[in-house]
This record gives sequence, structure tokens and C-alpha cells, in this order.
Amino acid sequence: MTKRALITGITGQDGSYLAEFLLDQGYEIFGMVRRSSTVTFERIAHLQDRITMVYADLLDQASMIEVLRTYEPDEVYNLAAQSFVPTSFQQPVLTGEVTALGVTRILDAIRLVNPAIRFYQASSSEMFGKVVEVPQKESTPFYPRSPYGVAKLYGHWITINYRESYDLHASSGILFNHESPRRGLEFVTRKISYNVARIKLGQAKELRLGNLEAQRDWGFAGDYVKAMWAMLQQDQPDDYVVSTGETHSVREFCEIAFDQVGLDWNDFVVVDEAFFRPAEVDLLIGDPAKAQDALGWKAETSFDQLVRMMVDADLDYLQGKLKGIS
Ligand code: NAP
Ligand code: GDD
Repeated sequence: MTKRALITGITGQDGSYLAEFLLDQGYEIFGMVRRSSTVTFERIAHLQDRITMVYADLLDQASMIEVLRTYEPDEVYNLAAQSFVPTSFQQPVLTGEVTALGVTRILDAIRLVNPAIRFYQASSSEMFGKVVEVPQKESTPFYPRSPYGVAKLYGHWITINYRESYDLHASSGILFNHESPRRGLEFVTRKISYNVARIKLGQAKELRLGNLEAQRDWGFAGDYVKAMWAMLQQDQPDDYVVSTGETHSVREFCEIAFDQVGLDWNDFVVVDEAFFRPAEVDLLIGDPAKAQDALGWKAETSFDQLVRMMVDADLDYLQGKLKGIS
């Protein structure tokens, strides 16, 4: 029988890759979208005729109960969130409502409508924050450093709580940073690749960034969505770190990105205090051993390939050769 999946956050970076992957697996996809005065479907425009769009909002519990009742999914992937860390400092309460309480709303809707639905929660390495162990694994204590990280930690624990209290098949993927040509323009990797392309094409003269020393474990989003699916195919629900096991600085990302277009990053990057955060996460590096052993999952795209892929895609995008990535 054809499996049915509901994806919240389908208009986001991960939603678009997960939808592609699940369609390839033969799933029927229901994409949860919220009402907006402009169209937000750019990342999934190429899939639109193969997906059923359903309107609901993580802030509105009744809308989610209705969606589950009407479309009867077998699996729910909760990717929706206020996901940008600086915005979480400016809008901490909204971030808590969506990114934290939104998870309870959807879990409770599952409990009420059909507790047999399998659930994936998009947890985050941002929960490790000021890290107390290197590398970070599933058992590493959490120390979030932003309202976003705190909200994700709530979402993580409420997922575990509903699993233990109501026997739901609810799993959390503790995903480390993952990027792609479809990454939002405000995140550092895409900000770099997009502006490197603009500089190369003579559309910009400099790139203003914040903390160049921050280190992240960066992978490719297209690889990471496969781990989400694999978690829901296991007999037992569980939590998994998903990462490459390597870390690189923002500075290194700049070096490779400018190198891809034959330029020296030192000539264009300007450090601007405006992009520093009230509290920073200095170093993230995940240990993906459990995901490798239990799910057979492994990151396939190297850091160097990722950076160069993003710069090339932005060059194409800015020259009108590629659509659907802004
Ligand atoms: P993203 O591109 O920012 O997408 C976020 C999605 O959430 C968008 O589809 C957005 O819809 C939707 N959304 C926001 N508020 C909503 C609400 N109130 N109701 C319903 N939908 C709402 O994020 P992403 O990079 O794909 O990440 C997917 C998930 O993984 C997020 O939960 C993120 O926090 C988490 N995560 C991401 C990473 C990473 O490195 N990318 C790492 C760890 C965890 P609109 O298009 O309408 O705004
Ligand atoms: N956005 C941004 N813009 N970040 C900058 C800049 C800049 O101009 N300059 C330096 N950085 C540094 C930030 O201070 C941070 O240390 C690092 O680059 C990465 O920032 P982001 O790309 O905004 O990502 P993030 O690590 O804060 O959060 C992302 O990854 C999390 C997983 O660890 C998001 O995708 C979260 O949703 C996700 O959970």
C-alpha cells in the first residue's frame, strides 16, 4: 500500500529535499503550509503537481488535528520552525511558541487522532551550544545558547516524553548544520556563496560577516533527509546524531568559496560587529557513529564539494540559469 507522509515546513530547505526523496520512495506527500500573502513555494515549485498542499499552522492546534483527521498520514515529519538563531534573540516568545510549543501541539494531535502515526522531530546540534564534550553524541549533556536552542531542547524532550508516556513511535534527529543551494539567504553559508557569486559577477564589492572563527560540522541537506526517513523505518523509535564528524570555520568556508571563482577572500570580507550574537556557539562537531551503525547512514558529500556546489549554483542562479533556490 502507498505510504502517506505529512511534512510540516515543506516550503523550507529540508522540506523540499525530503519531499523529493519520499516521492522517489513512492510516498504520497501532504505538505503543510501556512497562509501567506505571497507565494512561498519557490523551493518546491518543481514538485507542486506531485504534492497535496494542506493549510495549517503550528500555532493553531485545531488546524493540525483537522489535517491529521482529513489526510490520515502514516508518518509525520515535523520540520517547521522559526529556525534562524538571530531572529530568536529578537523574537524569543514567537520562537518558543512555534519551535517549542508547536511540537507539543502536533504530538498531542497525533495522540488524539491516531497514536500509530510515526513522528520525526527536527532536533538540532544548537542544543549542545556551549559544548561540554567533543565530539557531541546522543549522550552529551545539552547547554543551549540561544532562545532557538532552548526552544529546540523543549521540542526534543517533549518528543521523548510523548514516546515514553503514550508509547508513540516518536524519534528525534539531532542534526548538525546542513546546507545546500536552497539554504535561506540569511544563513552564513548561503550568504557567503551568494555574495561570492555577486562579487564575481560585478554586482557587489564586499561581504560583511560576523564571527569568522565559529566552527560548524557542515553537511549537505540532500544527504541528511535520508537519515530522517531511516529513523521512521526502525522497529523502535530513538534519537540520533546526524553529522559528518568534521568541523570547519566560517573563515575556511570563505577561503574555498572565493577560491572557486579565482578570488582571495582577504580582499572582500569585512568583519562587522552587527553580525555578532549576544551568545555564540563556538564549536560544533558531531559523532555520527550511532546513525552509521543503526541506520546505515553516512554523509556522502564532502565539505569542499558542498562549498563549491553552492557557489556554482549561485552563479547559475544569478545568471538566470537556475530557478527555485532563493
Ligand atoms: P527553514 O528553511 O527555515 O524552513 C522552516 C519551515 O518552517 C518553512 O517551511 C516555514 O514556512 C515553516 N514554518 C515556520 N513557522 C511556521 C508555523 N508557525 N507553522 C507552520 N510552518 C511554519 O528550515 P530548514 O533549514 O529546512 O530546517 C528544517 C528543520 O530542521 C527546522 O525545524 C530547523 O530548526 C531544523 N534544523 C535545521 C538544521 C539545518 O542546519 N538546516 C539543523 C538542525 C535542525 P514558511 O516558508 O511559510 O516560512
Ligand atoms: N547567519 C550568519 N550571518 N552567521 C554568521 C555571520 C553572518 O554574517 N558571520 C558569522 N556567522 C557565524 C554565526 O555567528 C554562527 O556561529 C555561524 O556563522 C553559523 O551561523 P548560521 O549559518 O546562522 O547557523 P547556526 O549554526 O546559527 O544555526 C543553523 O544550524 C543549526 C544547527 O546547529 C540553523 O540552521 C539552525 O536552524 C540549526 O538548528
